[in-house]
Amino acid sequence: MANTENPFVFGEIVDDVHFVDRTAELAQLVRDLADGQKIFLLSPRRFGKSSLVSMAMLKLKKQHIHTVNLTVSSYSSYAQFLEKFAEKVLRAAGPWNIVKDWISRFARSVKPDVNVNLGTGEATLSLGKEAAFDPAPLAPEVFALPGELARNGGFRMAICLDEFQQIGQFNGGSVEAALRNEVQKQREVGYVFAGSQPSLMREMLASSRPFHKSGPPMFLDKIPSREWKDFILRHFRRRGRALADDALQALLETADSIPYDVQRIAHELWDYAELKDKKQLGVPDVEAVVNSLVTTQATYYELLWEQLSKKQQAVLQALASRGPADIYSQHVREEFRLGPASTVQKAIQSLDSKDILDRYQENYFFLDPLFPLWIKRKSA
Ligand SMILES: Nc1ncnc2c1ncn2[C@@H]1O[C@H](COP(=O)(O)OP(=O)(O)OP(=O)(O)O)[C@@H](O)[C@H]1O
Ligand SMILES: [Mg+2]
Repeated sequence: MANTENPFVFGEIVDDVHFVDRTAELAQLVRDLADGQKIFLLSPRRFGKSSLVSMAMLKLKKQHIHTVNLTVSSYSSYAQFLEKFAEKVLRAAGPWNIVKDWISRFARSVKPDVNVNLGTGEATLSLGKEAAFDPAPLAPEVFALPGELARNGGFRMAICLDEFQQIGQFNGGSVEAALRNEVQKQREVGYVFAGSQPSLMREMLASSRPFHKSGPPMFLDKIPSREWKDFILRHFRRRGRALADDALQALLETADSIPYDVQRIAHELWDYAELKDKKQLGVPDVEAVVNSLVTTQATYYELLWEQLSKKQQAVLQALASRGPADIYSQHVREEFRLGPASTVQKAIQSLDSKDILDRYQENYFFLDPLFPLWIKRKSA
């Protein structure tokens, strides 16, 4: 990395030098996947699931484990998801001469609906094309593919299905059941099902659903302040800049230690320091950067705000000013005219389902930690 290049990255999957901490989680994930376990990786949005998985996959590759990474939400139909699943599994399955026979067998058995273009090893695959085509009968064959290939090719595989909470959108329970059914037979293949909206993922693991007890859930925590501080200070120091301790603290608090937001504010602070060529950065500098970020977002926040009911707005104002701990207390409910606790609870639940709030360690928090700053600014 060049000395002046902004080292703080947000909004994309980070690995390699941009990746902070998570040593224990990473080691566990790598070990479990290499072992052929099935893991559910859960956290609120933007805590770093995809980045952690991406790091784990890099490490697994170094151990000669064949890896596949699919984002469930990228596909618009069940047929397309199955196609891409098969395609990526086939691509990961080389060396080609070893698995070729099994691929031909797979192609034969799901005929006439499958065309595998073996070519040079770049498999492209197409299931039925008509809109009314029902791919469900092919699902067991497709989901069995990793196990077959790994067993017969004599290798291990690790597969990530990211944004797994979206899987129900394809074909309701039948995808879950078909997948579960095949996955549990595959001792050579580790799976990580990563998903946000923990409540939805928790539902998927409920006793009535196919994935109940199919693997241990792993809840991803925030990254500890200590690790963030080392990382941020190290980069600023490399550029000859010092960041005061209270400024660093303010940065982490404003970001609520959410990885995405820590990186985002640090990124802006870096650019700001470059522009002004400031060697000493303090709390006012962090505040200036945060304020300009909030201003940039104001139009978006305004639109979001207008879509909320008065009750929801009042609850957000109370949360922004008083925090989550006392939200049901009588004095906060009176101060913000929230009405009875049951009304507050209903508003909070609806804000949760709108992805404005989420829960972390039993407390509600703003998924976007800059939104409460805008709310406070607006109602000041
Ligand atoms: N270990 C990490 N080190 C440094 N930054 C990280 C780390 N994990 C996450 N981040 C920051 O958080 C951002 C979001 O991470 P990522 O996309 O991995 O989260 P996610 O949990 O998969 O989010 P989503 O639920 O939206 O898919 C990254 O772009 C990066 O800025
Ligand atoms: Mg992700």
